[in-house]
Amino acid sequence: MNVRAIVLAAGKGTRMKSDLPKVLHELCGRPMLWYVLHALREAGIEEITVVTNDLLEARIGEFGVRSVVQREQLGTGHAVRVALEAMGVHPGGRVLVAAGDMPLLTAEIFRGMTGALETSGASMSLLTAKMPMPSNFGRIVRNGSAVERIVEVRDATPAQLAIDEMNAGVYAFDEAALRGAVGALRNENAQGEYYLTDTVEHLVRAGKAVHPVPATNHLHTLGINDRVELALARKEMNARLCAQHMRDGVTIIDPDTTYLEPELAIGRDTVIYPNTAIARLSEIGERCTIGPNARLSGAKLGAQVTVRESVITDSEIGDGTAVGPYAHIRGHAVLDGDNRVGNFVEIKNSHYAKGAKSAHLSYLGDAEIGEDSNIGAGTITCNYDGKQKHRTTIGKNVSIGSNTSIIAPRTIGDNALTGAGSVVTKDVPAGERVAGNPAKPLTPRAKTSNQ
Ligand code: UD1
Ligand code: MG
Repeated sequence: MNVRAIVLAAGKGTRMKSDLPKVLHELCGRPMLWYVLHALREAGIEEITVVTNDLLEARIGEFGVRSVVQREQLGTGHAVRVALEAMGVHPGGRVLVAAGDMPLLTAEIFRGMTGALETSGASMSLLTAKMPMPSNFGRIVRNGSAVERIVEVRDATPAQLAIDEMNAGVYAFDEAALRGAVGALRNENAQGEYYLTDTVEHLVRAGKAVHPVPATNHLHTLGINDRVELALARKEMNARLCAQHMRDGVTIIDPDTTYLEPELAIGRDTVIYPNTAIARLSEIGERCTIGPNARLSGAKLGAQVTVRESVITDSEIGDGTAVGPYAHIRGHAVLDGDNRVGNFVEIKNSHYAKGAKSAHLSYLGDAEIGEDSNIGAGTITCNYDGKQKHRTTIGKNVSIGSNTSIIAPRTIGDNALTGAGSVVTKDVPAGERVAGNPAKPLTPRAKTSNQ
């Protein structure tokens, strides 16, 4: 089946009261338009044309779709005409029409629409929904069981307003029938617009069938007009994302306060505690414990990692590592595994080899920390001299005493030790023990104890 799609997104979105085009407002980390395009692609539709306005056109590049600007917003029918002109004719083709402000639409709905067109032999299928009243949605007027026309609220009689079967605003058309019907639209109505919904009456009069497809959940047909509806859609989308991961074997203690995004990977038997947000393509391994109060963005976690009340951004944490409470790991830090990053520790752009630990109150920036080294409480890598950032390199099995300040760039060799309160202003050779401000080698012990 040759199906192409038109996504309408040229409307002004006045009720958002925003400088940002409406369909670029985000829910769960993606613009609402992203979800519509994603669902269409999941339904196997590759050729998509988005009808934009000038503001949106400037930002449409990131979505990888064809776009066409509708300079004047003369109505949904006019918008489809503008798109059809840009698309070229596909004889025998099908065209799905949806709005860019309906992020909760699913691939299943789109498949249902085109499927209904095929099996019923109708020229048009349209998504209908039973909505709570009052509603601003167009009403489906039937003649017996057949759909006869759609009446917009502003053009409706009181009797028509009482109809609770609504037009959700998603349609599938036989392309030739759509082109004919759209070409014949008039704008003689309350809003002086070319209504796409008038194609129904046109097709029915021409003896063609219009097939209604009832939505199983009216929430999925929610069109976002203001930020109240956006919050409602966000809640629903988040619940959907949580449900998906729970079905895949993740325990989420409280989906109402767990904030997820599309395109996350979370391993089996991982448990997520409340007030946790996981964003930007984060990947979490199996049997991890995340939260409460954790924020992960662009984070890659191995298996059996614990993250309590901490923030991890653009960093990798290896298997068996324990993070937090109150750690901040950021700026492409890499922890190889079996690490311990404790209370009130900030790590930026640093590499911890296996087993390295910094359990309390430290800042490790631009540092390399060797295997099994222990960083004592209160240690600071003084990486910034006011002009430039410098690196600190710490070898294997090093013991850095509490409150050590390392004035970078500095190298501390394998098995070295710094005493509590050391200010390290010179490199420390392997095996050396230093202390003081500035740190100096400790008096060598008696020869016997050194051997
Ligand atoms: C439309 C339907 C209504 C349906 C409702 C569902 C018409 C005439 N009415 O009404 O029956 O119940 O959707 O949400 O179609 N747009 C353009 N160019 C325009 C006008 C609109 O691209 O010139 C876009 C908008 O950005 C929006 C979509 O088309 O994404 C729908 O337009 P909107 O003005 O919101 O129509 P509704 O009044 O909601
Ligand atoms: Mg609308």
